[in-house]
Amino acid sequence: MRHNFYCYMEVDETETGLDAIRQRISVRSYADKQVEPEVRKLLEDLCSIQKNAGPFGSAVRFRLLDLEPLSISETRRMGTYGVIKGARLYILGAVSGGKGAMEDLGYCLEKIILGATALGLGTCWLGGTFKRGSFAARMELAGDELLPAITPVGYPAVEKSVTERMMRFGAGSNRRKSWPELFFKSDGITALTESECGLFSDAYEAVRIGPSASNKQPWRLILDQQGATHLYLKENKIYNRMMGKVRLQLVDMGIALCHFEVVARELKLPGSWNTGVEGPRIPGLQHIACWK
Ligand SMILES: Cc1cc2nc3c(=O)[nH]c(=O)nc-3n(C[C@H](O)[C@H](O)[C@H](O)COP(=O)(O)O)c2cc1C
Repeated sequence: MRHNFYCYMEVDETETGLDAIRQRISVRSYADKQVEPEVRKLLEDLCSIQKNAGPFGSAVRFRLLDLEPLSISETRRMGTYGVIKGARLYILGAVSGGKGAMEDLGYCLEKIILGATALGLGTCWLGGTFKRGSFAARMELAGDELLPAITPVGYPAVEKSVTERMMRFGAGSNRRKSWPELFFKSDGITALTESECGLFSDAYEAVRIGPSASNKQPWRLILDQQGATHLYLKENKIYNRMMGKVRLQLVDMGIALCHFEVVARELKLPGSWNTGVEGPRIPGLQHIACWK
């Protein structure tokens, strides 16, 4: 039996985190099929606070919201500007502000999303195209909490809506940057090859194929001379700071932290994420964490 990332879930034992990372895709059109009570229970379980702790130690909290019992006018208020069609269930993610908060939210919600993917469900990270105030009211946010992102969850529709097709085309969602554009040696310039990553090459690949806000792919990895991997943000300042304290490109960093770790653990590779340590100084890049 292969190591199972979803050891706490009753899902196919052969399903791995890397499988789910490869399978996951943003789903914006949902089938008119209810999520069965037992599957819903597993989702509730994934959302429970005990199973969610990010590398920075922020207080992250999730809620599975069912729109079904809401009145028509309430449902209308909980909008996604027409981007999501047919979803009844949403997972809402809140975190107390502070250093590493966005990364932790990204890390934890992506773990839930991979779990949902392994259950055959569709999801779609939403950091911009949802009515934040209405969903925040349902989350009953504490004073310093933010609601950076939510995701619908449900069975994918067979046909994609026109809006969905347009959004995928607009963001170039099927494309990812190549290895030489993302992964470097410690000078931050020389491209790193797959063979130079050795046993960690799948963990690097898992970062590369991950989702990111508007598919901007702001993650960069650097392998230093001691064999430690450093995660950096190549920030688009205007884009990242347009929503005040909600920084979607830091959420992207959390997703990268999650993907790398899931695969490293699955392959039983040594190390863990260290935050608050310095990495090689690379102009234009912001150090986030180091795997050693
Ligand atoms: C933090 C974050 C925020 C996102 N926000 C939105 C959003 O508001 N609306 C949307 O339709 N897609 C959103 N996306 C989905 C991305 O556009 C999508 O992940 C990217 O285009 C890659 O496509 P894929 O997820 O199908 O691989 C977001 C993704 C991330 C990671």
